Amino acid sequence: MVPSIHNHTQAHQNKKSRIVAITSGKGGVGKTTLSINLARILTELQKRVLLIDADLGLANVDIHLGLQSQYTLQDVIGGRKKFQDIALVVSNGFRVIPASSGVQNLTDLNPEERDFLIGVFQKGAESTDIVLLDIGAGIGANAVKFSQASDEVLVITHPEPAAITDAYAMMKILWTGAPDKKISFIMNMVQVETEAKRMAQNLKSVCRQFLNHDPDCVGFLPVESKMRTALVKRKVFVELYPDSLYAQKLKEAAFKFFFHKSFGPIARGFSGFISKLMKKMAGSGIDIPSGSA
Ligand SMILES: Nc1ncnc2c1ncn2[C@@H]1O[C@H](COP(=O)(O)OP(=O)(O)OP(=O)(O)O)[C@@H](O)[C@H]1O
Ligand SMILES: [Mg+2]
Repeated sequence: MVPSIHNHTQAHQNKKSRIVAITSGKGGVGKTTLSINLARILTELQKRVLLIDADLGLANVDIHLGLQSQYTLQDVIGGRKKFQDIALVVSNGFRVIPASSGVQNLTDLNPEERDFLIGVFQKGAESTDIVLLDIGAGIGANAVKFSQASDEVLVITHPEPAAITDAYAMMKILWTGAPDKKISFIMNMVQVETEAKRMAQNLKSVCRQFLNHDPDCVGFLPVESKMRTALVKRKVFVELYPDSLYAQKLKEAAFKFFFHKSFGPIARGFSGFISKLMKKMAGSGIDIPSGSA
């Protein structure tokens, strides 16, 4: 049973936006699906959500929702367009900055463009409570930089040994570069929850033993055979199937992650995120260890 969020919602007003990177060790584990559905659930819970697609992969937010940004960040930098022209409003009112807007090319900006863009994002994010970043899978430099610059990271994994190993490797890299980073994980495509819980405990115990960290597990999302229907219709799954087990479990995970006392919020605001990201893009502050396990 999901508790009332009314008081939490009020308490969180006037806070800086919370920047959450959604990433994984292995590709195709359900990051984009989760990001979109989470954005929708948080919007229903009265949060103002901005979903930024920083994923270079094929199955990104554009494809899932059938979005095409008419303009790119270059139009914003050039002063031809405003932030709201590239932030598209979808589903129940959350905003998306699609990958087609060129978010992933933030690396290529010169210092003046960067400063300008920081200002633009800062203004655009003023009316945002939660920024979700759909990050590409794996330990590629961009994915790691986006994750390290965010306030907290949610790693998605499957309850199977190879995926768990990849999730562990991802956490190791992130914690090596940013030892205080709040990292949690969520299990997707769960068939048997007791088995997935056992895998989650294993992941936590290796993290405690070898990384000196104990990541929180925020939930277990079931395999949904109708997920493909939502994808084909270019719709948000929880909008089509609000009573599904996936919707229920994701809502519970959202409560745990976004509203439970022990889970934050840690919010530096969007400008803090962008400046940190830019510093990392400029080549400093990133630490990717050579061994992965
Ligand atoms: N709980 C689920 N049950 C069934 N299918 C799912 C579930 N979650 C995701 N999928 C499906 O798995 C596929 C991959 O999902 P998605 O594109 O969200 O993964 P991703 O991690 O973003 O991938 P990439 O690394 O390529 O960006 C999609 O076809 C999606 O519909
Ligand atoms: Mg994706």
